[in-house]
Amino acid sequence: MLPVQKFAALGAFIGLFLAGSVAAADNPPADTAAQKALAKDAVCTTCHNESWRVPILSLYQTKHGNRADPKAPNCQSCHGQSTGHQQDPAGVHPEVVFGVKSKNVSSAEDRNGTCLGCHKTGLRMHWSGSEHESRDVSCSNCHTVHIANDPVLSKATQPEVCYACHKTQRAQTHRISTHPILAGKMACSDCHNPHGSTGPKLLVKNSVNETCYTCHAEKRGPFLWEHSPVVDDCTNCHTPHGSTNAPLLKARVPWLCQECHSGDHGAAINSGANLLNGNATTINGMLPPANQSPRTQTNARACLNCHVLIHGSNHPAGAKFQR
Ligand code: HEC
Ligand code: HEC
Ligand code: HEC
Ligand code: HEC
Ligand code: HEC
Ligand code: HEC
Ligand code: HEC
Ligand code: HEC
Ligand code: HEC
Ligand code: HEC
Repeated sequence: MLPVQKFAALGAFIGLFLAGSVAAADNPPADTAAQKALAKDAVCTTCHNESWRVPILSLYQTKHGNRADPKAPNCQSCHGQSTGHQQDPAGVHPEVVFGVKSKNVSSAEDRNGTCLGCHKTGLRMHWSGSEHESRDVSCSNCHTVHIANDPVLSKATQPEVCYACHKTQRAQTHRISTHPILAGKMACSDCHNPHGSTGPKLLVKNSVNETCYTCHAEKRGPFLWEHSPVVDDCTNCHTPHGSTNAPLLKARVPWLCQECHSGDHGAAINSGANLLNGNATTINGMLPPANQSPRTQTNARACLNCHVLIHGSNHPAGAKFQR
């Protein structure tokens, strides 16, 4: 159905609904309650009907518009009684105006207070004082209530809502190596709770690692031989949103490793480990001699060829993560 037809059909449906309340006195009580709730909306929907400049009545296709749910808001639960506005629409605006582009938009506090009246608990437990709250981001910056499917609630369309303000992350998720966000299989809210959290950076868990372990449980261990930067923070080596170095690495191997291990192999060599074939990037902190073949130098850089279990090992002889 075209949107226009949809609203026309809806208008007819509401009409029937209201007519029903007059005609049938023997309706079950639940219906009567729903009809009463719907009739309350009529003080607004007489003017804000299916021909309003933007869709309004599509609210009835959402949970907020479920008039059989006594907890669902009517027009005035969100916008206020707005008596003055009903009499003089051009002169007096409603008590709560959510439209972020309207010149009459209410303060973030008033807008958020309205929604929090019914939604203070659950995911919103840490809203107060959160990064978004303290920067005057409001519920209606992310949520759209007058359309059938709020884009921020579905994995495929949510990132676009966030990118409106977070352009850096938009660019990052377009890189070669990413989480499957563009593919619509994952959303920002798999790792972040945009309403506030007890962890850093609005993460869903108390730390970066706890967040990653929700899906990459095998990286938690326990390991007989732990690689300490892994236990410390996955972002020592990985970037969550996207990278030009697969798999989501902050830098390419060997440079990634050499940020922390410069010249260590020199020690390995000097301690008798059989690496004298030239399979070393540095010897006592120096670059390998120029007379080594390019091939051996290249091999040496492929740290992961030998140190295969970089996240930790459970092999008794895996102290250097080789098995
Ligand atoms: C008599 C017709 C009429 C009634 C009744 C009416 N409105 Fe309006 N409303 C208007 C008109 C016209 C405008 C546009 C005013 C303008 O742009 O100057 C408007 C604008 C609005 C806006 C946008 C305000 C803004 O500044 O962006 C909201 C929200 C709104 N109405 C909600 C309601 C609600 C809620 C009710 C019921 C309590 C209601 N209206 C009842 C005619 C009406
Ligand atoms: C859950 C709270 C809520 C309820 C219930 C609600 N609204 Fe809204 N309304 C909003 C928000 C938020 C916006 C901003 C745009 C959006 O999110 O769709 C808005 C925007 C509007 C606008 C401005 C659209 C424009 O022209 O720019 C009008 C008019 C309006 N609502 C009328 C109504 C009417 C009439 C009802 C009852 C049928 C109603 N609203 C019920 C929250 C609500
Ligand atoms: C009068 C109470 C009330 C107010 C005010 C209210 N809501 Fe709701 N909201 C509800 C109820 C009831 C539901 C349905 C809950 C359910 O069935 O799980 C709901 C559901 C939702 C959902 C989930 C929708 C879905 O499809 O799962 C979102 C998002 C939401 N509300 C956002 C808001 C925002 C944003 C505001 C302010 C603009 C707001 N609500 C104002 C009562 C309210
Ligand atoms: C920065 C964007 C953003 C802001 C701001 C925001 N939300 Fe949400 N909201 C989301 C996302 C994303 C989800 C989906 C969460 C999920 O699936 O885990 C969601 C889900 C919800 C839900 C449905 C899930 C549930 O908890 O039942 C409700 C209700 C809700 N938000 C209410 C609010 C209210 C009220 C506010 C303002 C105090 C608000 N939101 C502010 C992004 C936001
Ligand atoms: C796989 C988990 C994951 C996903 C999915 C994810 N993030 Fe993040 N995000 C993180 C982690 C971990 C951090 C903190 C470490 C960092 O900044 O690298 C972070 C940090 C951030 C920051 C703060 C950056 C800063 O420099 O302080 C923003 C903003 C952000 N993410 C937005 C988003 C948006 C928008 C999306 C969806 C497109 C998203 N994130 C998806 C894990 C994730
Ligand atoms: C209306 C703009 C706006 C929207 C939309 C928005 N944010 Fe933000 N976000 C901000 C602002 C402002 C900050 C404060 C820090 C900054 O300036 O980047 C912030 C901060 C963050 C942070 C970092 C918190 C920290 O501790 O530094 C994360 C993570 C984040 N947002 C995730 C999201 C996600 C996920 C979404 C979509 C569901 C989203 N944001 C939508 C404006 C927005
Ligand atoms: C909600 C689940 C989820 C969370 C949370 C999560 N990931 Fe992932 N991760 C995935 C999925 C799905 C893939 C893609 C797997 C595939 O394509 O086979 C993936 C892939 C990866 C890859 C490999 C990428 C590639 O190109 O092969 C790395 C590295 C990674 N994640 C690191 C992290 C880190 C670090 C964190 C914590 C900041 C994290 N993940 C949090 C689901 C998650
Ligand atoms: C010391 C650097 C480093 C740290 C810290 C690190 N990783 Fe990795 N990770 C790597 C490297 C290097 C690869 C590529 C391995 C390969 O190609 O054989 C990788 C690959 C991955 C992969 C994809 C391949 C696979 O093994 O499944 C995932 C998922 C992953 N890491 C998750 C994590 C998580 C979760 C954490 C934090 C608990 C973490 N990593 C911490 C270096 C690190
Ligand atoms: C953020 C810093 C950091 C990065 C990046 C890093 N490591 Fe480590 N690595 C450490 C620390 C710290 C230890 C523990 C050293 C100790 O116990 O003396 C360690 C231990 C090791 C060990 C065992 C050393 C021993 O003496 O037991 C090996 C092998 C190793 N790393 C290889 C790598 C490789 C290969 C990479 C790149 C894929 C890498 N590391 C990236 C910090 C890092
Ligand atoms: C040809 C296989 C091989 C390659 C390639 C390799 N290593 Fe090693 N590495 C070893 C062996 C074998 C040891 C252990 C020596 C021992 O047990 O004493 C070792 C030991 C280490 C140690 C422990 C420190 C020490 O002196 O004992 C670190 C750190 C390390 N390697 C990092 C790296 C980095 C970083 C790269 C890439 C630039 C790399 N390795 C490439 C085989 C290799």
